[in-house]
Amino acid sequence: MIRALPQQVVDRIAAGEVVERPASVVKELIENALDAGARRIDVSIAGGGLELVRVADDGAGLGAEDLPLAFAAHATSKLTDVDDLAHIASFGFRGEALASIGAVARCRITSASGEDGAGLSVTCEGGEVSAPAPLAAPRGTVVEVRDLFFNTPARRAFLGAVRTETARCRELVNALSLVHDEVRFALEVDGKSRLKGRPAGDLNARLAAVYDAEFAASMVPVSGHEQGLRLSGRLSLPAAARPRPRAQLLFVNGRLIRDRRVATAVRVACKDFLPGSLQPSWVLALSVDPACVDVNVHPTKAEVRFRDKELLFGLVRRACRAALLSADLTPHAQLASLAPPHTSGGPPRPSLPVIGQPDSAPGTPSQDPISGGRSPLLHGARGLPSSDSSSIPDADAGVSEPTPSVSPGLPSHTTATQPTLLSARAAVRFLQVLDTYLVHDGPEGLVIVDQHALHERILYARLAQARDAGQIERQRLLLPQTVRLDPLDLAAATERADEFKRIGLELAPFGHDLVAISAVPAVLRNEDPGALLMDLLHPRDLHGGIPDDLDRRLFTIACHAAVRSGDPLSEEDAAELLRQGSELEHDATCPHGRPTRLVVGKAEFERLFKRSGF
Ligand SMILES: Nc1ncnc2c1ncn2[C@@H]1O[C@H](COP(=O)(O)OP(=O)(O)OP(=O)(O)O)[C@@H](O)[C@H]1O
Ligand SMILES: [Mg+2]
Repeated sequence: MIRALPQQVVDRIAAGEVVERPASVVKELIENALDAGARRIDVSIAGGGLELVRVADDGAGLGAEDLPLAFAAHATSKLTDVDDLAHIASFGFRGEALASIGAVARCRITSASGEDGAGLSVTCEGGEVSAPAPLAAPRGTVVEVRDLFFNTPARRAFLGAVRTETARCRELVNALSLVHDEVRFALEVDGKSRLKGRPAGDLNARLAAVYDAEFAASMVPVSGHEQGLRLSGRLSLPAAARPRPRAQLLFVNGRLIRDRRVATAVRVACKDFLPGSLQPSWVLALSVDPACVDVNVHPTKAEVRFRDKELLFGLVRRACRAALLSADLTPHAQLASLAPPHTSGGPPRPSLPVIGQPDSAPGTPSQDPISGGRSPLLHGARGLPSSDSSSIPDADAGVSEPTPSVSPGLPSHTTATQPTLLSARAAVRFLQVLDTYLVHDGPEGLVIVDQHALHERILYARLAQARDAGQIERQRLLLPQTVRLDPLDLAAATERADEFKRIGLELAPFGHDLVAISAVPAVLRNEDPGALLMDLLHPRDLHGGIPDDLDRRLFTIACHAAVRSGDPLSEEDAAELLRQGSELEHDATCPHGRPTRLVVGKAEFERLFKRSGF
């Protein structure tokens, strides 16, 4: 039953503009239909939603007593007293949406609460509510909103073009149809059918219906639960990331919510899988006890406040990270067709052959897997920290002990979920081609490894672990190296001297336009310290939105220290590189998100050589 809210409740409700644009109307009307238990929701819009928004549902309907109150301000059937505000389980609770819409448009509600075909209709134009009139109607409610903002032309001026407003309405219906799988949604735009939702089908099927099959196939499942929070959804594979994501949607108990922290948590989970300029797409649904989340904080209910923000942030980060780690990220090249490289769903197929036996069990701390290698190159010039006497561990940097090459702080991960390549020097022959790629044969086909990308990944994993343990090893320079800087760079370098020190680069101002570098990260002992400093001051790959700035510095160091294209690698070097990669929790991409290897399957060769399929 709709009742006027007591003043003390009204005073506690987040106030503000409820109807900003046509999409706000669509959202409020759909949420009302969902609250009424609808199984079918038909939305029509015309003229960007300014001419018409019509939402028809087959929910409980409004009875003769309630209908006249539907447009009354602060009148709702969903809340009675102040205590209810602490655990709101319905979408609506303020009794304000229809009143706000009715004040700025010409509206009609037709509703029937029984199956006898007897319905009632009321209109509301600019706040003027008519007396109810009988009208035959099936059970359910139809709300029509015409000429939005007809009496407030100034508000129209703030809207986008009709196309933009249409797109906003469509995005909203599409988004809601993804999570409310119990409801059959249909959308008509200017008389044309744009969505015919299927009630059943998993999220993949709905993603394919709303977006397209390729997009759906580029997503991996995400799931996790912690202390009463349950998260499920999909995250795009790194290869499907774009400068503008196709979807970044968070639902909290079915409500579409904006939350910058959740977006950041996903971005952090993807940080060393994705180029910084690209954004992942994701659809995440969180279910939580309504008492743990305050939905009464924003006038359009577009934001909520969580009782435990850190818990949510950590859950999203860990679940997304685990989803990527268990996905097959190795591109399977299809040279002769344009089919998408990835498939999703189901168990990941082994992306790379297992060749021979690992030198040590995956995840087992190995004896300094990098410097311990026998390879002269990996051991030497662009090689890796070793415990030789030339590197002086610093008191405050700690003594670098050999460490397992597993990134810390992440869910433990084994080769059972992420297939990696285990090499045995005796069993595999490698060929270095184009000065950059290591090519070898395997059961899945031809494996092509980018030597620089893989080495970068290995170094990054080791540096990240050492950084977390406070142990990035430095190499003191016999003679400090001076670097001339312009005033801005000089100021930045001086200001960030402490930050750089934490990653092994020590410097101090020297004269009026110089800095003197006295120590470098040990992995870069043979590199030009000045070039490193410039890269640290002007990173080429900005990872927007990631709070951990230090990580970006590690990307830069790993990039500097890694073998480059053009560096000759012996078969032994190559085998060592692959072995080290195989010991990481993830070695399918470099820290910037480029793949470290790809596979060309046998079938692909057969097609190219016209052995089959013709
Ligand atoms: N489609 C519908 N089916 C059945 N009842 C409805 C429908 N739409 C609105 N109502 C009734 O009208 C009342 C007012 O709706 P309105 O959207 O203005 O407020 P609310 O949903 O209670 O709160 P909020 O302002 O937060 O949305 C609701 O409480 C509900 O009882
Ligand atoms: Mg409502």
